[in-house]
Amino acid sequence: MGLLAKGLCLAAVGAFWAFLTRDSFDPGSLAGAKVLLTGASAGIGEQMAYHYATFGAQIVLTARREDVLEKVMEKCLKLGARSVFYIAADMSLPPDTEKVVKFALEKLGGLDYLVLNHIGQSPFKLWAGEVNHTRWLMQVNFLSYVQLASAALPALTKSKGSIVVVSSLIGKIPTPYTTSYTAAKFALDGFFGSLRHELAMVGTDVSITLCILGVIDTEYAMEKIRGVVMMSPYPATEAALAIIKGGATRAREIHYPWGTMFLCLIRDWFPDYRDLVIRSFYNYSNTAV
Ligand SMILES: NC(=O)c1ccc[n+]([C@@H]2O[C@H](COP(=O)([O-])OP(=O)(O)OC[C@H]3O[C@@H](n4cnc5c(N)ncnc54)[C@H](OP(=O)(O)O)[C@@H]3O)[C@@H](O)[C@H]2O)c1
Repeated sequence: MGLLAKGLCLAAVGAFWAFLTRDSFDPGSLAGAKVLLTGASAGIGEQMAYHYATFGAQIVLTARREDVLEKVMEKCLKLGARSVFYIAADMSLPPDTEKVVKFALEKLGGLDYLVLNHIGQSPFKLWAGEVNHTRWLMQVNFLSYVQLASAALPALTKSKGSIVVVSSLIGKIPTPYTTSYTAAKFALDGFFGSLRHELAMVGTDVSITLCILGVIDTEYAMEKIRGVVMMSPYPATEAALAIIKGGATRAREIHYPWGTMFLCLIRDWFPDYRDLVIRSFYNYSNTAV
């Protein structure tokens, strides 16, 4: 290969890398932004609350544990949030979804961001026919997202706002021990992908950002996979910031860590080998069945 060709190749790789890692995020755009954040009492949601607070947003936090939400609220106020409110709600109960959106609209007087992040607890083990659990988890991890989005859409349409949907690499590539969780995450991709089309067709300027995350070091996730999945986790605070930036820049999808984007790109090339590689990360003997 000639020198010129090598130079062109390097320039192309450099340009592609710059494109992948570009950052058009303006922190000032979040000052005073009206945010409804679910799953805000722990893990990535709690970290998102602190980032939004630092950027000076107005936030409504929700999850089930009121005492924990109160503590998150206090820390958000110290970090510089313009205002913070919280409401305890259980996303396995359909009426709670409308209650949460109504509360947010009353307290904030509108909405710019609906950040859908909560998940119900699910076992990390071989499928053993727990259909009732799957039904319950679909309500918490999928249907409640649809209900929240549907209740918030008129306000988001008015503000030309954003829906941010927190998903997982497991919502693009199935893995073992996560049957119901995987199903709910795939459903989110389908529903919100279709909704994105429809909003564009009717000229509604509401963006939808799907967030594809790898393994993140939250307490609950670590508890489940420790000793079973041989993968290093990434920090929740960085994942939280990547999600917020994605929503603020109205990105269609974000990937954190960035390697998850590459895995999504090649996921259908050699599916049988892909599945063999995935299973090689699992320690079968440490599985709690
Ligand atoms: N951690 C990872 O490795 C990882 C990887 C990929 C994607 N993700 C995604 O990132 C998001 C956050 O995950 P995470 O690891 O931060 O989760 P987490 O630490 O388990 O936190 C879950 C949050 O959801 C709330 N929640 C649980 N059940 C609820 C219910 N029935 N109704 C309302 N709220 C409920 C919890 O608060 P209460 O208990 O107070 O209700 C908590 O605030 C999820 O969408 C997850 O799928 C995580």
